[in-house]
Amino acid sequence: MIFILTGAGISQESGLSTFRGPDGLWEGEPVEAVATPEGFRRAPARVHAFYNGLRCRLASGTVVPNAAHYALAELMEKAQEEVILVTQNIDDLHERAGAKNVLHMHGELLKAYCTRCECAMPWASDTSTASCCAVCGREGFLRPHIVWFGEMPLYLEEIDDALSQCRLFVSIGTSGVVQPAAAFVARAKQQGALTLELNLEPSATASIFDKGIYGKASAMVPAWVESLFSIT
Ligand code: OAD
Repeated sequence: MIFILTGAGISQESGLSTFRGPDGLWEGEPVEAVATPEGFRRAPARVHAFYNGLRCRLASGTVVPNAAHYALAELMEKAQEEVILVTQNIDDLHERAGAKNVLHMHGELLKAYCTRCECAMPWASDTSTASCCAVCGREGFLRPHIVWFGEMPLYLEEIDDALSQCRLFVSIGTSGVVQPAAAFVARAKQQGALTLELNLEPSATASIFDKGIYGKASAMVPAWVESLFSIT
C-alpha cells in the first residue's frame, strides 16, 4: 500500500494560500479568528463570511486543480496496489482532478456540520447563523465542516490502520508542524515503510524522511508518479 499525505503546498499553484506565510495570516485573516472554536463562538458571522468567501472562490473557476492533483489521481487509478490519499486540505481539488475516496482529515469546505444533530452534509452555498440544517431542519446550529485548532481530526482510525500497513509513505506540500499529521512519517517508518517528502523546502520533519525532493509540486509530483510507473 502507498500512503500519500498532502497539505496546503499542493494547492498553492492552484491559487490557494498556504497557512504559514510570513505575515501569519491565512487568506488575509488572523488564524485564531477564523480557525478556532473560540473565534467562531466570539464572532460566528465573521467566520461564516470567511468560509463563504473561500467556498465562492473554489466555485469561481479561478481555482482549479494543477498537474500535481492530476498526477495523484492517475496514480490512484492505475497503481497495481492500494493507494490511500489523506489530505489536510479543505478544498476539493483532489476530487476535481478525479481522485476517489480522499480522506479529508481537517474537514471539507463543501460540507456543513450541524452541532445539534451532529451530522455533516454536502453544502455548496453560503452558510450563516440563520442557516437551517438539511438533516434535522433546525436553525442556527450549522457551522463550516472544518476541523479547527484544538479539535479532533477526522478518520484517525482508518489513517492509523493504513499507516501500519503501508510500504511507501509520501508527504507532499506540508510544513510538518501540525499534529497529528506531522507524526505520520515516524509511525510509517517505525513499521518499515520507505518515506519520501516532496515539498518546496525541507519541512520541520525532513530529517525523519529517507529521502526529500524539493521544488514545486506541479513539477515534482508528476515526475515522481512517472518514475514510479517506470520502476514497477
Ligand atoms: P503549511 O502552510 O503549514 O505548509 C505548506 C508547505 O507547503 C510549506 O512547507 C511550503 O514550503 C510548501 N509549499 C508551498 N508552496 C509549494 C508548492 N508550490 N509546491 C510544493 N510545496 C509548496 O500547510 P500545511 O502543512 O498543510 O489545519 O498545514 C497543516 C494544517 O495547518 C492545515 O491543514 C490547517 C493549518 O492550520 C487546520 O485548519 C486544522
